[in-house]
Amino acid sequence: MKNILILGANSDVAKQALKRYAEAGHLVMAASRNMESIQSFIQENALDTQKISLLYFDAEDFSSHQRFYESLPQKPHIVVYAAGFLSQNNIALFDFSKAHQMMKVNYIGAVSILNIIAMDKDNNNLERIIGLSSLSGVRGRKSNFVYGSTKSAFTQYLAGLRQELSGRKITVNVLVIGYINTKINQGLQLNPNLIMQPDFVAKYIVHAGKKLCHRSPLEMENHLQNSTMVARAMGCPFAINLQTDLGRQLHRKFRGQFPVIHGVHVG
Ligand SMILES: NC(=O)c1ccc[n+]([C@@H]2O[C@H](COP(=O)([O-])OP(=O)(O)OC[C@H]3O[C@@H](n4cnc5c(N)ncnc54)[C@H](OP(=O)(O)O)[C@@H]3O)[C@@H](O)[C@H]2O)c1
Repeated sequence: MKNILILGANSDVAKQALKRYAEAGHLVMAASRNMESIQSFIQENALDTQKISLLYFDAEDFSSHQRFYESLPQKPHIVVYAAGFLSQNNIALFDFSKAHQMMKVNYIGAVSILNIIAMDKDNNNLERIIGLSSLSGVRGRKSNFVYGSTKSAFTQYLAGLRQELSGRKITVNVLVIGYINTKINQGLQLNPNLIMQPDFVAKYIVHAGKKLCHRSPLEMENHLQNSTMVARAMGCPFAINLQTDLGRQLHRKFRGQFPVIHGVHVG
């Protein structure tokens, strides 16, 4: 049984991870601005309330982070940073407050709280830090480069943190993820063939450390881009999504012939 700290636990993906962790018998500290919503999720899914504590956490309230960490009911073995904010590029380019909010939630807040957690050498429990990053942080694109640049910074921070913590045998995983069907994407028109479900991604979070995907983020990015182009050109039929049974069958049958989407890269 491990102590799991989920930061930004009201994320649709994080909630599925919370469910998986709790059902596996771990103690979960769910940290979020919206504790009521998590409470409802726990009730709807009949999760064991003894195994889950709800904590208030605001990624943007940097000055509260030290206090937040010191008041945790137990020190974590595994930390998941799931908080994220997305403002569309055409808004963020004109309204700096939106760009700034993305920087604060996706990068600065993460560095603030994860530095505190990572540098606590008295916490002998700590064994893994997992950050949810994005394919948009691999290559800048016209459609979302402001958001993408904050995710890129987060990815690079985690890569360095991995080296920093390796001497203490603490693993850092960065999940570079494609599109997911969550509220962050509400209102965006995304190719339905390329969208993963939150629980599919949650599986990669709770199994981080096991080799589930072999592609590098750049390879994934190319695949996603090729798949999007091919799918658009052909009305979507041939971009294979390995999340679906059909996708897996097609992949086995036509290996190498169609673009394949590996939606989550665990680094
Ligand atoms: N969906 C995708 O396509 C996709 C792809 C790649 C990576 N990601 C990343 O995956 C992570 C999870 O996102 P999601 O897809 O599950 O979307 P989501 O449901 O919108 O989750 C994002 C969460 O971040 C929380 N958050 C925002 N600002 C915060 C703050 N100041 N303090 C604490 N929490 C804050 C939100 O809290 P509230 O509920 O209180 O608003 C929300 O629950 C994010 O980091 C996102 O960038 C998503």
